[in-house]
Amino acid sequence: MRKTLTALLLLSLTVLVACSKEQATDRAPTQAVVAEPEIDPATGLKMTGDWELVRGNCTACHSSKLITQQRGTAQQWLTMIRWMQKKQNLWQFDPGTESRIIAYLSDNYPPDAAQRRAAIPHELMPPNPYSTETASLN
Ligand code: HEC
Repeated sequence: MRKTLTALLLLSLTVLVACSKEQATDRAPTQAVVAEPEIDPATGLKMTGDWELVRGNCTACHSSKLITQQRGTAQQWLTMIRWMQKKQNLWQFDPGTESRIIAYLSDNYPPDAAQRRAAIPHELMPPNPYSTETASLN
């Protein structure tokens, strides 16, 4: 009887240890995927990839906040750069530098689906006093 109890105890201990090990290894890769780059305290830029190139070329005229609060695809970032080059005296970049800057921006500040809420469904909106539909209800 005592032997059976000891065996049971050992078995449950083994299962417990195995489970906790599994959990530990479960967690590690998730953390690696979720890990966000560190934020540069001076500029607020994400310290990854070509962030120093962006700091060097993009913070001379205005606060880096203009950059970090902006979101865009590569094309949208390029359009902003072209606009600044045309209207705000931003200098020309050589093509290599420009594509590295754009890659950093569109990778780290991409369009964010969560920034805009979905439109409110029509049936949840208050009646529109100017619509002919509502007028016929009165
Ligand atoms: C030569 C000066 C200059 C440099 C360098 C510069 N910008 Fe600008 N940028 C401006 C000016 C001026 C504005 C308009 C600021 C305002 O509206 O108050 C602006 C505005 C912006 C905006 C806001 C655009 C909007 O639609 O609101 C973003 C984003 C931006 N810049 C990003 C960048 C990035 C990225 C770089 C580096 C590639 C950069 N800027 C480098 C002059 C510059």
